Amino acid sequence: MAFSFAALNPLQGRDLLSSADLSGDQTLELLQLAAALKRGEQRIDLGGKVLGLIFQKASTRTRVSFSVAMARLGGQTLDLNPAVTQVGRGEPIADTSRVLSRYVDALAIRTFAQSELEEYAHWASIPVINALTDLEHPCQALADFLTLQEAFSGSSAAAGLAGLTLAYVGDGNNVAHSLLLCGALLGVNVRIGCPPGFEPSPQVLARARELAGHRSSIEVSHDPVAAVRGAHGLYTDVWASMGQEQEQRQREAAFTGFCLDENLLAEADPRAIVLHCLPAHRGEEISAGVIEGSASRVFDQAENRLHVQQALLAALLGGVAG
Ligand code: CP
Ligand code: NVA
Repeated sequence: MAFSFAALNPLQGRDLLSSADLSGDQTLELLQLAAALKRGEQRIDLGGKVLGLIFQKASTRTRVSFSVAMARLGGQTLDLNPAVTQVGRGEPIADTSRVLSRYVDALAIRTFAQSELEEYAHWASIPVINALTDLEHPCQALADFLTLQEAFSGSSAAAGLAGLTLAYVGDGNNVAHSLLLCGALLGVNVRIGCPPGFEPSPQVLARARELAGHRSSIEVSHDPVAAVRGAHGLYTDVWASMGQEQEQRQREAAFTGFCLDENLLAEADPRAIVLHCLPAHRGEEISAGVIEGSASRVFDQAENRLHVQQALLAALLGGVAG
């Protein structure tokens, strides 16, 4: 089946720093292209293009899925780990970014401050992709909504997400932020259930509500049961993100009652699926029974990182015809 991906054409040469850098149509078409690539119905050849990976934090899924995505698209990746480049010795981002723009065709960057990512993007003349910052994880959100779409509308449906409800129980962190923004673009109702003091950023919430308009609702509650009631997707993430390890004990106390367990799952829609970006801490933010249970889609979700990133790379690097 042939698709037209007209909304993706303007993405060529652009950055993806935030989920909100995409329009609703572009987000939907990326999911549609990812699904077509997954089914083997779409072939894309990037003709030897090179993606540089600058990762200031650990990664299994993002690093490997970007590398495999480029290989499958006929390109390759270069590991620009700060420990083995002059980045680790403090070479200015302005210089690094301009130099790398002369060698590689795109950069995927995992770092702490969003402002650092933005500085790379400012100086680069090639697309820069957010591979996770403290503020957002937009590639993750694309994979998450593809997984929700597969569960509720079948892999061939172009739409089918609007009107669903995704409940995220846990820390209002980078993953929650991208879910709010991406969900709003897709017309999904997003509910966050978090302890007081761990709410998403007010700026991100305001932007998500603006993007959602009258199509869907964006809600924050301190009651995990109310957050998950009747929801189609239940999501959680670690209580202490990378860089917050020293707060682990204090956060464990604050998040008591926010474990995504069998009791919370029982409050959701009977067809609900369970999502987690991984890595997971069983017995903390999610019970072993729920992550290993029949509602869990966490490994499909991890696989979908590969498919959505292929679609994204194809769009940014000009590999989508039509
Ligand atoms: N979910 C995710 O981004 O995993 P990694 O940290 O392993 O890349
Ligand atoms: N919120 C987590 C996500 C890891 C993929 C972190 O930033 O560590």
